Amino acid sequence: MKIVVLTGAGISAESGLGTFRDQDGLWTKYDLEEVATPEGFARNPALVHEFYNARRANCLESLPNAAHEALAKLERSTQHELTIVTQNVDNLHERAGAAQVIHMHGELMRGLCAACDARWDAPATMQPDDPCPSCAAPATRPDVVWFGEIPYHMDRIAAVVSAADLFVAIGTSAEVYPAAGLVELAQGETLELNLEPSARTNAFDARRFGPATEIVPAWVAELTG
Ligand code: APR
Repeated sequence: MKIVVLTGAGISAESGLGTFRDQDGLWTKYDLEEVATPEGFARNPALVHEFYNARRANCLESLPNAAHEALAKLERSTQHELTIVTQNVDNLHERAGAAQVIHMHGELMRGLCAACDARWDAPATMQPDDPCPSCAAPATRPDVVWFGEIPYHMDRIAAVVSAADLFVAIGTSAEVYPAAGLVELAQGETLELNLEPSARTNAFDARRFGPATEIVPAWVAELTG
């Protein structure tokens, strides 16, 4: 089967990375207008770098969990063709061994030059006056897609989702578009795996609820026997 999995912050929650909208989620502690918009970055780049430096440090000290590992195992299986589309900016899918990962909201471990569009592996901490390794402009930012910006790889994502036999959303509240609308593009079966019903749960053919480290390995075991 051609399987496309869309993951959200919920898959990394049990690795110690906060989600955004749950109780004590990141957006209950930080004003997203200040730390996750181009306007906020223009107003106060030091505050934005501080926010992503803390998230990068948290990610570096975290480990992939059983859900990440189960998806990497499914990717290796010869029975199915898996593509992982993730809203997450962490690198836990890759650290679990997955290779086919499309980061639609960018990557915490990457730097981006707002002047020349160069990209590079980010240092653990980034500062507003860090020079771009390519054009030397002090215009470096995390390579993360902020609110009001267009997500990456949307043409490729739309193509794999509409061609999938099975589309599965894991650990996402389905509150943010265009990710939350991908289920509409799916022509094949659709399944939601989440701790609780998401905002789009009724758009799915089937759903299972529980912690990702339990329901994802169980689902993968069914597929790979
Ligand atoms: N196992 C499975 N699901 C979980 C778990 C868990 N252990 N813990 C939380 N969840 C579920 C929650 O029930 C919720 O539905 O994960 C979802 C997390 O939702 P959000 O915090 O809204 O995260 P996400 O959907 O990934 O956010 C989408 O919004 O803030 C922006 O760019 C950011 O990519 C992000 C996007």
